Order: sequence, then C-alpha cells, then structure tokens
Amino acid sequence: MIDYIIRPMSFGDIKQLSDLDKRCFAVPWSEQSFAEEAENRLAYYLVAEAEQTIIAYIGCWRVIDEGHITNIAVAPEYRRQGIATELLTRIIHAARSQSLVLLTLEVRKSNSAARLLYESFGFKPIGERRDYYHSPTENAVIMTLMLGEE
Ligand SMILES: CC(C)(COP(=O)(O)OP(=O)(O)OC[C@H]1O[C@@H](n2cnc3c(N)ncnc32)[C@H](O)[C@@H]1OP(=O)(O)O)[C@@H](O)C(=O)NCCC(=O)NCCS
Repeated sequence: MIDYIIRPMSFGDIKQLSDLDKRCFAVPWSEQSFAEEAENRLAYYLVAEAEQTIIAYIGCWRVIDEGHITNIAVAPEYRRQGIATELLTRIIHAARSQSLVLLTLEVRKSNSAARLLYESFGFKPIGERRDYYHSPTENAVIMTLMLGEE
C-alpha cells in the first residue's frame, strides 16, 4: 500500500500535472491548459500526492446541474492500486453533495482500462462522438452516471 494524500489542485501543481500528462496521454495537456483549469471557477480538480510528487489527478466541470469529468490520470508506476477509484469516489461524492443530476465523460473507444473503471461505478455508454480524438483518430464513447440512482 502506498501512502498518499488527496487534495484540491493548486497553481503550484501546474508544472507537475503537465509532466504527468505527458507520461499518460498521446496528446497531453499543456501547462497553459492546466493554468486555465486552475482559474476556471466551474472546474474542480483533485490531485493525489505521494512524497511531494503528484501521482494522479481528476478534473470535473460543473455545467448547470451536470458534472463533466474532463480527465483522470494515474502515473504508470502507481496504477492498479485503487488510486483512480479513490479519486472517482471523491468526485462522485462531491457531485452528489452539490445535488448534480449526472456525471458524464468521453473516453477513447479502445481504452478498456478506463472504460472498466467507469463501468465499475455504474457509468453506462450512451453514445459515441465520431473521430473525437486524434493521434490516433478514434471515436469517443460517451459514458454517463445518473446520480439519482444508488
Ligand atoms: C485508467 C486509469 C486512470 C486507471 O487508474 P488506476 O489507478 O490504475 O485504476 P484503479 O486501480 O482504481 O482500477 C480500478 C478498476 O479499473 C479497471 N482497470 C484499471 N486499469 C485496468 C487495466 N489496465 N486493465 C483492465 N482493467 C483495468 C479494473 O476494473 C480495476 O479494478 P481491479 O484492479 O480491482 O481489477 C489509468 O490506467 C490511467 O491513468 N490511464 C492513462 C490515462 C487514461 O487513459 N485516462 C482516462 C481518460 S478517459
């Protein structure tokens, strides 16, 4: 079991988040993108930190009464230890406590690890966005969790 804490993202995390994204995605977000998220009052980001190093994060936008999960990533060496599960649990709890109706997200069709993670929380595929991703081009599956349902 690794020892880590989960806390809200701060401006001081931007460089580390950008470095982490480069290790997790073919098309990572820039430092500028993370800076914009840190300033976005509708955005809620949590980071997982172990020994002063950010090892994972999750982000969500509040759009009226819906939550849109923007991204989730765990550093490769920390995967399959329940960290994404813990981050998602916290986001779902926050969404419920704000009386949001649903949580929704897009995921690459081929990303079976992420899809299994979301399915384990009850997210259901409700449609696809054609060629939503590039490098490589791929459809997104839209997955949604209705929060009224326990
Ligand atoms: C997807 C990701 C966030 C999962 O993070 P994680 O901390 O390893 O996930 P967890 O340990 O909480 O796993 C929870 C469940 O998800 C599923 N899962 C996660 N990784 C999996 C894998 N590689 N293969 C199959 N199932 C997987 C399993 O059901 C797992 O439960 P189990 O370990 O009891 O079998 C991580 O692999 C990652 O950062 N990937 C790259 C970035 C990415 O694709 N993000 C999603 C963007 S939509």
